[in-house]
Amino acid sequence: MTPVTEEALHSLDATADPRLRELLTALVRHLHAFADETRLTRREWEAAIRFLTATGQTCTDTRQEFILLSDVLGLSMLVETINSDGHGGTESTVLGPFHMTESPERALGADIDLVGGGEPCVVTGRVLSTDGTPLPGAVIDVWQADDQGYYDVQRPDVQPPGNGRGLFTTDAEGAFRFRTCVPSSYPIPTDGPVGDLLRATGRHPYRPAHIHFIASAAGHASVTTHIFVAGDPYLESDAVFAVKQSLVRDFTPTDDASLAEEFGVPNPFRHARIDLVLEPS
Ligand code: BEZ
Ligand code: FE
Repeated sequence: MTPVTEEALHSLDATADPRLRELLTALVRHLHAFADETRLTRREWEAAIRFLTATGQTCTDTRQEFILLSDVLGLSMLVETINSDGHGGTESTVLGPFHMTESPERALGADIDLVGGGEPCVVTGRVLSTDGTPLPGAVIDVWQADDQGYYDVQRPDVQPPGNGRGLFTTDAEGAFRFRTCVPSSYPIPTDGPVGDLLRATGRHPYRPAHIHFIASAAGHASVTTHIFVAGDPYLESDAVFAVKQSLVRDFTPTDDASLAEEFGVPNPFRHARIDLVLEPS
């Protein structure tokens, strides 16, 4: 260990909060080991400082470039995996940067696609406890990109606020259903430093088509997750490493006029099913 590494580690000895001391000590150890291993040059250090400065300067009230950086480096998904218990509940995945506005409360069966034009789709399911008990009164917060691959906040000129979003409460059987359009795969924002990083590393920016969910119920831990559209070409190469096989769902082509009438969608339509299983807290 070089003297400066030892000194820097010693400087943390008086940190009162033991967890903060543990985190900072490990951070200094790993940063120094990184610089040492790569024989980091002054120029490279300066470039890294410029990159991180630009990342901060790209953040606004509606854009979080640091989270995006964490996402494309796989850190967000690693933290998500470390912190999910795995005791039989639905697997979690990244929150992402587009859960920034409150979803409007909607009645069960409502259409969250306020614009139209995409392929009509119905999503149905139940919220359950791990022992299979249905959870009436559970809340699911849903948000998704449209059929062009954009969230409402990205195209306020085309999509009204709340498009693709909804807050639903499950019925007496713990069931929910809503109408929407089949989401499209989409590129994460590439007009900032994270885009430069993707280009420099020859990576594409696409996420496979998905719908986001946060499910919560009294006495249970909430889960933040997605369902992914089976067959999407980016399932094997998600730009943010967030695909879990258990979350991939068929959006089944359905040609059934009476079912379409029951759901209030044009026939034919696509039907995705997801049960969201919460772990007792
Ligand atoms: C999203 O799914 O909304 C998302 C997640 C990570 C980075 C960018 C977008
Ligand atoms: Fe998304």
